[in-house]
Amino acid sequence: MTHFAANSPHARDIATLVHPGTNLRKHIEVGPTIVSRGEGIFVSDDSGRTFLDGGAGLWCASLGFGNERLARVAYEAIRNLGYYHLYRHASNEASIDLAEKLLSIAPVPMSKVLLQSSGSEANDTAAKLVWYYWNAVGKPEKRKLIARRQAYHGSGIASVSLTGKPEFHAAFGLPLPGFLHTEFPHHYREGLPGESEEAFSTRMADALDRLIEAEGPETVGGFWAEPVMGAGGAVLPPKGYFEKIQAVLKKHDVLFVADEVICGFGRTGNWWGSQTFGLQPDLISCAKALSAAMQPISAVLISERIYQAMLTQSDRLGAFVHGYTYAGHPVAAAVALETLKIYEEMGIVDHVRALEPVFLKELSDLPRHPLVGDARGCGLIGGIEIVADKETRAIHDKALDVPGRIDRHARDQGLILRFVGNRIAFSPPLVITAEQIGDMMARLRRALDATADELARG
Ligand SMILES: Cc1ncc(COP(=O)(O)O)c(C=O)c1O
Repeated sequence: MTHFAANSPHARDIATLVHPGTNLRKHIEVGPTIVSRGEGIFVSDDSGRTFLDGGAGLWCASLGFGNERLARVAYEAIRNLGYYHLYRHASNEASIDLAEKLLSIAPVPMSKVLLQSSGSEANDTAAKLVWYYWNAVGKPEKRKLIARRQAYHGSGIASVSLTGKPEFHAAFGLPLPGFLHTEFPHHYREGLPGESEEAFSTRMADALDRLIEAEGPETVGGFWAEPVMGAGGAVLPPKGYFEKIQAVLKKHDVLFVADEVICGFGRTGNWWGSQTFGLQPDLISCAKALSAAMQPISAVLISERIYQAMLTQSDRLGAFVHGYTYAGHPVAAAVALETLKIYEEMGIVDHVRALEPVFLKELSDLPRHPLVGDARGCGLIGGIEIVADKETRAIHDKALDVPGRIDRHARDQGLILRFVGNRIAFSPPLVITAEQIGDMMARLRRALDATADELARG
């Protein structure tokens, strides 16, 4: 039974909506937080409380909340056309302009762009393209796809099968067969005592090599990785990791798909996380900050090697039979294009690089707090490890619900945090200022202090 007044938005929400990532039973009792307005890096709920959103929504509201300029672009795009598709040779100028722009800023030479509406769709599409490629070149048995444990690549049937989080699979009878997971490259958690990051990376690459050998390299088609693992807890790759991993992929002729859904468009201090960490992908999926999250849009960037194989399939089979009604949506494409213009005008890469030392300094001070075991980041993404014991790195007893306590105290401080297990993942809107970073971290420290006091009181 809900205790909200009948006909209140809260009661109507409970009566009608299913919320992702939400305990549905608990939701009936606690109800929704109705976010009604946003400005800059802050959002307000319907009771008038204002929060600094340390996660930019879901890692995506790169320009913050509310945007007059993008609203005008969307308005004009709806007035002029509103909708058309890209099927059967149809096109629209916004999609052409956007594709051209994306190819011009791609981290490695890319040949073509396939547009969709979400990160999950982009990764589902990329999975199909890997299969399409190997079919085209006469190696249809190269079908198995490998991602990392704790990776998140989406909730579609293929993208969630790539996802390496057991809770996303258990009750759905997933992952699909042929989706495999290799080691979680989280040095702080998974490293052996005294093991250097380089040695750890070698061990990670050896594990991938062994997995491919065991499965048979002739059956493995693609490998997925985010430059920085977002929903894995904002985990940075250990030193040398991608160099060693890519050597293994080359050795076995496995295609590399970079999931830039979080890292793309400035987040790591370059246009792409692939530039920050030296990735040479064959396919790139991107979304989120592509439109500053103001419109649902995603893209897969396709290398010439793969495009040439797609062309030969058209010669053999006719049409490329993959697509979505909203692929190349002219309103979403126009907003994305304008977003990229805004990034260029504000010098997004320089802006993030200028703020990075401020953000990293704040992070590096955090382990002095009794609850923080480790904190690191790059650009404007960072992960904080909450521990019960710094020496052993043990985490708190689940029954204490320490993340829940920190979350409550942070909300009291007007701060929205994103938790991944015992980790806090920061990805504030990229328009944040140095002063606001200081404010965000001061709110966090007060929430940590309040939690530590509460735990000490038992
Ligand atoms: C790295 C990564 N890939 C893919 C996705 C899925 O994107 P979407 O939720 O737009 O389907 C996400 C979402 O958080 C993500 O973080």
